[in-house]
Amino acid sequence: MDQPLIEVKSLQMYFPVGNNIFGRRKQLKAVDGVSFDLYPAETFGLVGESGCGKTTVGRALVRLYRPTGGRIIYRGTDITDLDEKAVQPYRSKMQMIFQDPYASLNPRMTVSSIIAEPMALQQVPQADIDARVRELVAQVGLKQDHLNRYPHEFSGGQRQRIGIARALAMRPEFVVCDEPISALDVSIQAQVINMLEELQAQMGMTYLFVSHDLSMVRHISHRVGVMYLGHMVELAEVEELYSNMQHPYTQALMSAVPIADPDLAAQTRRIVLQGDVPQPIDPPPGCPFASRCRYCKPVCREAMPDMREISPGHFLACHL
Ligand SMILES: Nc1ncnc2c1ncn2[C@@H]1O[C@H](COP(=O)(O)OP(=O)(O)OP(=O)(O)O)[C@@H](O)[C@H]1O
Ligand SMILES: [Mg+2]
Repeated sequence: MDQPLIEVKSLQMYFPVGNNIFGRRKQLKAVDGVSFDLYPAETFGLVGESGCGKTTVGRALVRLYRPTGGRIIYRGTDITDLDEKAVQPYRSKMQMIFQDPYASLNPRMTVSSIIAEPMALQQVPQADIDARVRELVAQVGLKQDHLNRYPHEFSGGQRQRIGIARALAMRPEFVVCDEPISALDVSIQAQVINMLEELQAQMGMTYLFVSHDLSMVRHISHRVGVMYLGHMVELAEVEELYSNMQHPYTQALMSAVPIADPDLAAQTRRIVLQGDVPQPIDPPPGCPFASRCRYCKPVCREAMPDMREISPGHFLACHL
């Protein structure tokens, strides 16, 4: 395989929240020891229940956050602790597409200035900016006469296209797509997904694709990681994961997806998760999933299982 574009090693992102009874700061362990590699031109899907830390991983990778532990290696360079100035060249290589195409565009800027802004910040010459804006607008399927209009004049799908054009302005190598279609009409979702796939084929960037839509993740991803409560519990190539999932949490998550094929649906029993989701504030020791796991053994409550490679490229963190 190629050299990874990004290596993520034991990534940790703790947030300080309130005080405990002794007046010490408590910590919310949003991401706690996540490791994986991202390869050039691949799409890595990231799934898991709300609050498991997917967005936090994405924001930490593009260095919108400074991780509280672990390492992020970008093309062999450790960028974990670079300060604001030193991280700038990497910022333009790593972009984020947001869920909400309404909130993420400045309503007082024209489409052309929204798309041009990242280039203007990097002091790209104006003539180059103008040419690139025209090129981007065509690439994302907008019209040149949209350039002088404002975001409120566009539909959700068109706004997402504007956001994507802006994200691609500096020719990023890595794009975090955080629920990029969940705010859009179903009829528009496929168009935006197809466009993201075409852009990747043309430009060869790596995507981290965060979504609750497990069938969309299956469609677009080459590999998929499953997160639970700040931890990566299973990771594999997409067809391996969907056909041979091993972690009880992955099984429960996937069993909640409606299945179109009635024969298959009859064979598949929906697994209903028992127990409460523990808070990632002062979590108990052991496996994060222990309190809800059907197969929980004493060892699961004592020690955190390591990620093991159970078959080539298939990683699992489970004692059993
Ligand atoms: N800036 C922050 N300060 C404090 N806590 C935070 C912050 N950002 C996220 N969290 C907490 O970290 C945990 C993980 O949040 P995150 O947004 O990464 O989850 P997620 O998997 O993206 O969820 P969703 O699917 O709902 O988008 C949650 O418990 C959340 O409340
Ligand atoms: Mg999120």
